[in-house]
Amino acid sequence: MIVCLCNALTDRDVRDAAARGAERVSQVYRECGCRVDCGKCAREMRDILRTPPRPPALAAAE
Ligand code: FES
Repeated sequence: MIVCLCNALTDRDVRDAAARGAERVSQVYRECGCRVDCGKCAREMRDILRTPPRPPALAAAE
């Protein structure tokens, strides 16, 4: 699912960035090699960052 339209980032991109150590929205952009544009995605990114990672078996089934 696309989370950031400006940078075409998906929820998976956000979770992958979190797995690499991103804890804040600004760190997600940095990890993904892009920059904030309109900022409308920040709230959803924050929600994703606060959600614990899913067990691998469930994540693979998505
Ligand atoms: S939707 Fe993410 S910066 Fe615009």
